[in-house]
Amino acid sequence: MLDSHIANNTLRTTQIINIQIESPTVKTYTFMDKLCSKARPGQFLMLWIPGIDEIPLSIMNASDDLVSVSVKAIGDATRHLHTFEAGATVGIRGPFGNGFTENQGRSLLISGGTGTAPLLFLAKRLIPKAKHLTFVEGAKTKTELLFINELNKVCQEKNILTTTEDGTAGLQCLVTRPLIDLLDREPYDMIYTCGPEIMVKKIFELTEQYKLPMEASLERLMRCGIGLCGSCMIGKYRVCRDGPVFTTTQLREVKDELGISKMGFDGARIPI
Ligand SMILES: Cc1cc2nc3c(=O)[nH]c(=O)nc-3n(C[C@H](O)[C@H](O)[C@H](O)COP(=O)(O)OP(=O)(O)OC[C@H]3O[C@@H](n4cnc5c(N)ncnc54)[C@H](O)[C@@H]3O)c2cc1C
Ligand code: FES
Repeated sequence: MLDSHIANNTLRTTQIINIQIESPTVKTYTFMDKLCSKARPGQFLMLWIPGIDEIPLSIMNASDDLVSVSVKAIGDATRHLHTFEAGATVGIRGPFGNGFTENQGRSLLISGGTGTAPLLFLAKRLIPKAKHLTFVEGAKTKTELLFINELNKVCQEKNILTTTEDGTAGLQCLVTRPLIDLLDREPYDMIYTCGPEIMVKKIFELTEQYKLPMEASLERLMRCGIGLCGSCMIGKYRVCRDGPVFTTTQLREVKDELGISKMGFDGARIPI
């Protein structure tokens, strides 16, 4: 166990094998890495962008010694990564964190933005065993709806619902709006979600109302990724070590912080 922790935390350098453009702001990077290729959906890795920074990223696919991550360009490190071409060298530590449980009943998966990446990975693992799966994805606009073709292949078109805030695709509303209809109509056994924390908070409140179990992948600032530095705290939990996937029981314990505040780079609380 200790040996595997040490191995996962050792930085490996590798080259980018493939880069796929997913949207005007998101690209998927594929590398060879034996350890991360064994990752479970919901786990994350720390990607070192030489000379710039090291950042946490959810694993969006893992198999045959290959691992992929989908990255939105939002700041220094991610914008720099977006300038890279295939063949560029990066560093990897991981996989880290716990991952989602794989429920075999009727599952509802709800994603926003790059939160779709780990849920697509999860859907691929659930589909062969699950009784039923519905996937709801929300974005601001049509061009930011991620992985639609792949989702159609994995889940079948009839099981996918999309929403956009500007109405350019799917229903014109926030991703949380069609959920009440779905929850009234369908008996789900498990709700999985990943996306902006405000969205996660609303979904948590709905699942409490409907008394349904939920697992949510949360984001916090991360530096070490292995439970040492404390920069990723939510309540008594360290998101990198105790999460990033949290259950209903744990979410109840941190509901005073969920979607409300988090720790900034200087250690002070900042509103979400
Ligand atoms: C477990 C986990 C999984 C993630 N998965 C993905 C993913 O699959 N795809 C993706 O595009 N992004 C993902 N992120 C967010 C990603 O880590 C940040 O977007 C990235 O670190 C921003 O770095 P930057 O230098 O480009 O931006 P910065 O200029 O540093 O900051 C821009 C914004 O990003 C946030 N941020 C910065 N650094 C971190 C950090 N170390 N951890 C969390 N948030 C940070 C800050 O709140 C800030 O508002 C994940 C974060 C976590 C914690
Ligand atoms: S990132 Fe250091 S304790 Fe979680």
